Amino acid sequence: MAAGETAPRQGRMKQSVKMIVGNWKMNGLGADLATTVADLLHDLHLEPQQCRVGICPPATLIDRLARDVRTSHIEVGGQDCRVEAKGAFTGGVSAEMLVDAGARLVILGHSERRQEFGESDALVSDKVGAALRAGLTPIICVGETLAQREAGEAASVVRGQVLGSLNDDLAGKDWALAYEPVWAIGTGLTPTLEQISEIHAAARAAMIERLGDGGGAAPILYGGSVNPGNARDILAVDEVGGALVGGASLKAADFLAIIRAAQPASVAAG
Ligand code: 13P
Repeated sequence: MAAGETAPRQGRMKQSVKMIVGNWKMNGLGADLATTVADLLHDLHLEPQQCRVGICPPATLIDRLARDVRTSHIEVGGQDCRVEAKGAFTGGVSAEMLVDAGARLVILGHSERRQEFGESDALVSDKVGAALRAGLTPIICVGETLAQREAGEAASVVRGQVLGSLNDDLAGKDWALAYEPVWAIGTGLTPTLEQISEIHAAARAAMIERLGDGGGAAPILYGGSVNPGNARDILAVDEVGGALVGGASLKAADFLAIIRAAQPASVAAG
């Protein structure tokens, strides 16, 4: 297909199965999990699998969540992993341990880890390798700070993070990129739809630059203040393959509303 040509409708529909992942960050005790999951499953099991849904709780809840959702299509994930499989790393959790606890996904390179723990692109790339070694689906986060956006550097920062954080082993594997502008996380602020489109296009180009054709298939999720009110518009933007949801994923009703916004209209209405 020539550049700029529109894919046939059938093809677009196939590609447009969205991925919605909740990042609970450091929130949630066992009691919260039981309530949220019960509410979620009560309404979600009525809907066909038209949308890929994941929840990444704190590591302490992965095992329990995996058991609770084992009869649903919800995938469970970690929020980070170490590069090493095991060893003298007090407090560390390896990719193999996440799998052992029931995880299938792992968020890597979240800006909160890049900022608070000084995680570099090179470290994130090594963690991607560890996740793939264990059979996890990595969700690799990139995104500019407010200062970088105001300096007109958003696209180039994201390109640099993509080039530095990906790993050759990703080719042919199941993985996702997540564009999360740092200034939009937990602030209620979001980029305009045009800005999201521009950065997702830049990210896609960098993914292909880094991995060749293998960079063309992975979905690019948007993250940063996604809520039931803005999800439908954001998810309709070209190259937005889903959403990585923080605060709104903690409330079953809000998370369900975002999942519905990601489904084809006929399913969401049912
Ligand atoms: P919020 O949805 O709370 O802005 O968080 C986004 C995020 O960081 C998801 O990883």
